[in-house]
Amino acid sequence: MRQFSVVIAGGGSTYTPSIVVMLLNNTYRLPLRKIKLYDNDPERQEVIAKACEIIIKEKNPEIEFLATADPEEAYTDIDFCLAHIRVGKLPMRELDEKIPLKYGVVGQETCGPGGIAYAMRSIPGVIENLDYMEKYSPNAWMLNYSNPAAIVAEAARRLRPNSRIINICDMPIACEEHMAEIAGIPDRKEMDVRYYGLNHFGWWSDIRDKQGNDLMPKIREYMREHGYLSPQLLAQGNEQSWLDTYEMVKYFMDLDPNTIPETYLKYYLIPDMAVAHSNIEHTRANEVMEVREKKVFEACREITRSGAYEGMKVGLDSDENHASFIVDLAHALAFNTKERMLLIVENNGSISNISDDAMVEIPCLVGSSGYEPLTIGKIPTFQKGMMEEQNAVEKLVVEAWIEHSYTKLWQALTLSKTVPSATIAKKILDDLIAANKDYWPELH
Ligand code: NAD
Ligand code: G6P
Ligand code: MN
Repeated sequence: MRQFSVVIAGGGSTYTPSIVVMLLNNTYRLPLRKIKLYDNDPERQEVIAKACEIIIKEKNPEIEFLATADPEEAYTDIDFCLAHIRVGKLPMRELDEKIPLKYGVVGQETCGPGGIAYAMRSIPGVIENLDYMEKYSPNAWMLNYSNPAAIVAEAARRLRPNSRIINICDMPIACEEHMAEIAGIPDRKEMDVRYYGLNHFGWWSDIRDKQGNDLMPKIREYMREHGYLSPQLLAQGNEQSWLDTYEMVKYFMDLDPNTIPETYLKYYLIPDMAVAHSNIEHTRANEVMEVREKKVFEACREITRSGAYEGMKVGLDSDENHASFIVDLAHALAFNTKERMLLIVENNGSISNISDDAMVEIPCLVGSSGYEPLTIGKIPTFQKGMMEEQNAVEKLVVEAWIEHSYTKLWQALTLSKTVPSATIAKKILDDLIAANKDYWPELH
């Protein structure tokens, strides 16, 4: 069977070790000959790389391993790039979250002003990696989940329209897993779903079991009271901030009795509550630095110290959920499985009453020639209105980055449903410009 070569861009990411473990556990369906890590911060990457080298030697010694900060070395002879970079890393995420909160506005990694700020850093990082890939391995696919995926996808559409990048998110998968638990279905893949939206901005309009039975009434009834908080989710030991997010969906379930909203809609539909649940002194970035980042880096150091992975004491925070959809996607591309997956793609008529050039999140069939988006048809006025507003925000950010336009970025912030007025938008923008001076183009 053909064996594949993979580079992980953002090798120093907290997700890298669990993705490597996931790849190793799935070589029966995605055989590998090479795993490479690439990061532009070699010191950070080294901690992760040393542990990954030990894990690979232990589990699949025949797979070649390399960690590098040299793009040519990283991107030569690869079939897939799994991209999860974070330009500015977690300290910049902290500012993205805290600056809007100063003005009583949602402070979040991918939604509202925080997501806009992050996009202005992320766009050149992802484009740079895409260019390396196309230069050194023009037939490779980039499976990108670097955030903010919605705006990054729009930037790739505008700037590299013919590139082999596929943008994807794990949130709908996590939601589907919890909905399956609520419906008493053992595996989310045993549900047939209809879903549409933008990334971190979507709705399920139909959920059925394999016999065609409608599961929506049962799931909706539970979610009106508990949101996504299934008993299994509560047992998983998630942090309170995530439990809040999963639960708060219950407050807007009845806004549309025919759909189920994705978790991230809370930032747009109940921003006041989202802000009330935030602590400007201690946001999600702080939590991630104190918990996931610390845990993963400690675990990696422990593996390196002991020289062994099996039987280690500290956990790797391996999130099967997060890693599995990436393997599913690579597997579908490699073996032409035509698996149905939710991807972020150009609309081109799939949602008939939304512009062709919007990057939407919809079901697609994935095979060796790429993806085929499925048809959604007309969506209701409520969702259409929300999506058009948010899509305009996303397009304005990309235009602002390309044109170095202060006005367009101000418009983007003003148009975001999370921001109450143009004057507050301007204050936030001016603070963000100062905080991002090392990353953003100079705006005029
Ligand atoms: P992290 O800060 O731990 O790691 C990111 C790494 O990217 C760092 O080591 C950094 O040095 C590196 N990097 C930054 N700019 C780079 C560049 N230009 N080229 C190469 N490497 C670069 O971040 P994390 O918390 O592990 O998250 C990683 C990314 O994955 C984030 O963008 C996050 O939002 C995203 N993510 C997306 C999804 C999704 O659903 N789409 C899910 C989880 C995480
Ligand atoms: C979900 C989203 C990702 C996001 C992540 C944040 O998985 O789909 O896009 O990056 O949550 O998680 P964190 O634990 O870093 O707050
Ligand atoms: Mn996501």
